[in-house]
Amino acid sequence: MPLSPRASRIAGSPTMKVTATVDRLRREGVDVIDFGAGEPDFGTPEAINDAARAAIDHDFTKYTPVAGIPELRSAICERYRADYGVQYQESEVIASAGGKQALFNTALALFGPGDEVITHAPYWPTLSEQVKLADATPVIVRTSPDDGFAIRARPMLDAITARTRGIIINSPCNPTGALMPEGELTLIAKEAARRRIWVVLDLCYEKLIYDPTFPHNLPGVLDAHCRDLAVICGSASKAYAMTGWRCGWTLAPAAVVAASAAVQSHATSNVADGFASAGDGDVERVPQAARSAL
Ligand SMILES: Cc1ncc(COP(=O)(O)O)c(C=O)c1O
Repeated sequence: MPLSPRASRIAGSPTMKVTATVDRLRREGVDVIDFGAGEPDFGTPEAINDAARAAIDHDFTKYTPVAGIPELRSAICERYRADYGVQYQESEVIASAGGKQALFNTALALFGPGDEVITHAPYWPTLSEQVKLADATPVIVRTSPDDGFAIRARPMLDAITARTRGIIINSPCNPTGALMPEGELTLIAKEAARRRIWVVLDLCYEKLIYDPTFPHNLPGVLDAHCRDLAVICGSASKAYAMTGWRCGWTLAPAAVVAASAAVQSHATSNVADGFASAGDGDVERVPQAARSAL
């Protein structure tokens, strides 16, 4: 049976293949340390589990609005305000089934045939495949082990052509762990503003920075230089040990959020309710509120 041209362009997630292999080996009794998927090696914090249990007990198990319940959307805005000093409204945030869907919605909302989208390598393989799923072309700029895999602006700016529609930055970077310095992102953000190019920031590992002295207010940089072109994707997976719950989000201009919501409304509808209902220990007060670990 002929598959679609799109299907033939896409490779399945190698990360998920590693996960499946590890799972099989473990079932066979092999003692394996898994460096494949970015999986925290501890359980979801009890306050979140308690809130989810309470939500189930309150029958908070139905469809929710596509972009997320207002409490969740405002909790996400509040977290980014507290962490980075950036101001987002509810209309500028959408909750999705993981950072992966947040990034996927973004790719479909922003990129199309003929577009080039720059990102840095080594990279999490999904980033380039999602660009291809959007019928656009990934343009890969290598970082170097001799340079600690530093994510630098210059090579990415040099890769810009008349077709460049977006630049995707992943910091902290999977798999290298490299952090993008604020100054480097400033150079990209200023050029993006000049040339009207989207800057997509994958911040899914934002809570796993082990050098607290490293300045990493990347949302603040985008806010200052190209707010109307900035798309920030985040996730509860790594930050709160919630990989299987499937909750991520996008902060972006309202039109991008609306387009992402349109895409998502035909894919998964809303974020998994278990998370939408998880609380920060404040279970009694708002049993169904999405305050969670945020
Ligand atoms: C760089 C990067 N971004 C985003 C994600 C998405 O994670 P999730 O969909 O679980 O939020 C991952 C997952 O491993 C990742 O490595």
